[in-house]
Amino acid sequence: MTRRAQSHVLNSDMRLRGACLALLMSTLAITSIRARVSAPAAAVDAGIALPEAVDLNADPHIVEINLESNISSVDIAPGTRVDAWTYNGGIPGPLIRVRVGDRLIVHFTNSLPQATTVHWHGLRIPVAMDGVPGASQPEVAPGGTFTYDFTVPDAGLFWYHPHVMSAAQVGFGLYGALLVEDPADHVGVADERVLVLSDIGVDSHGALESPTSGGSTAMMFGREGNHVLVNGRVHPTVTARAGVPQRWRIVNAARSRYFSLALDDQTFTQIGGDGGLQERPQVLDTLLLAPGERVDAIVTPQAASGRELVLQAQLFDRGYGSVEYRQPEDLLTMVIAKDTPVAAAKLPVVTRAIDPMDPAGATPVTLTFSLAQRADRTFEYQINGAPFMQNKPLQAGLGEVQAWTITNNTKWSHPFHLHGFFFQVLDSRGVPVRPLAWKDTVNVPHDESVRILVRFDQRPGSWMFHCHILDHADGGLMGTVEVGPGATSHTHRLP
Ligand code: C2O
Ligand code: CU
Repeated sequence: MTRRAQSHVLNSDMRLRGACLALLMSTLAITSIRARVSAPAAAVDAGIALPEAVDLNADPHIVEINLESNISSVDIAPGTRVDAWTYNGGIPGPLIRVRVGDRLIVHFTNSLPQATTVHWHGLRIPVAMDGVPGASQPEVAPGGTFTYDFTVPDAGLFWYHPHVMSAAQVGFGLYGALLVEDPADHVGVADERVLVLSDIGVDSHGALESPTSGGSTAMMFGREGNHVLVNGRVHPTVTARAGVPQRWRIVNAARSRYFSLALDDQTFTQIGGDGGLQERPQVLDTLLLAPGERVDAIVTPQAASGRELVLQAQLFDRGYGSVEYRQPEDLLTMVIAKDTPVAAAKLPVVTRAIDPMDPAGATPVTLTFSLAQRADRTFEYQINGAPFMQNKPLQAGLGEVQAWTITNNTKWSHPFHLHGFFFQVLDSRGVPVRPLAWKDTVNVPHDESVRILVRFDQRPGSWMFHCHILDHADGGLMGTVEVGPGATSHTHRLP
């Protein structure tokens, strides 16, 4: 598309979005008032501890669970119930807790009125367990079952979600956290929280918002729900003791929303991300999580007893319409207990030896994201000039290292996610970003490029990559890489 055509697309879009945003704003105002009223004065943790999947297997190295997708009525705030799409009846689904090296067996039953699958986001497992129809397994039809069975190779916080109609199904509530513990990680913080951040769109009648509301213009932006959730609750309250460190394992499971987190005047010590611990800690005022990303951070509240610290999602510019007429969102209130504050414990400095990948000799691959208007005036996203359904798969040999340059020529940022393999992000000099970290999802800001280095290890198959703004993935920003030899081409349905 030429620049002129692009600016025409944007201008007509801006008018539309202006109208959409005005509507959105009135909804948001109502949401935040309700949220403030609903925060209980007496602090309790009730409601945000995640239910855990029950391990049915006596073998200490096997975790075997039942997982059912179904429609269940859930409370997202006092007085606000919604018939959501859930795993095991809750939003989020159960926390699955395993140790690195364990075998995980999941007996999955689909009790939804629509086909689905379970994708294990970030796990380096065989493609047959990756949950992608056409590449891994057939869709699990309503009433159908599938058994996922694999060894969990890496420690870290991962998550699971469907890979059929993903924007709709994730938006309706289908996601859960998978915590892979490493008993030898020496982090030394006993008090641990898993925080699943998301949102859900509920209309004025209390029903789930249509996944196609706003048409292709809303797809182009990426639909955000009007209720922001922490472990499935609107603005919960928890207690904490001053000086006592907490380890927060956070995942952004929202279909489109970014979270730029700040906790009043407190700092976060980030020790890891998508693929487990990072090279060394970083002290940060804010933590940014694009959809699909995870953060592992230590928070040691330093505040007088009785004070309330508010975890806020700050405004974050992910492209046109993402900051205009919007307010920061209060996510969680942390009340400092009345006990005597303890002197902040001295924590070990958490490090991890990670070898920087070598860009020399890596096969260059170029991916360029663009936005186009079809003849019928609807929008589609394209990679290298074509939407997903028309693109040929990329190729990679077993063990091959590739350097992907991902250029975003659109007005919205895109969290790029590659299935099945970790990568390292390169800086402007072309060497891996420090502190070194393994990633599976990286934000590609609007009008910018990101370079990554990935080694396709010995797991052949057809692996997906896509934007984790799931509306964008459905709207064309998706592709496959055939890792061979012997990898065959598949025709995919839209996940
Ligand atoms: Cu969480 Cu195909 O993605
Ligand atoms: Cu995107």
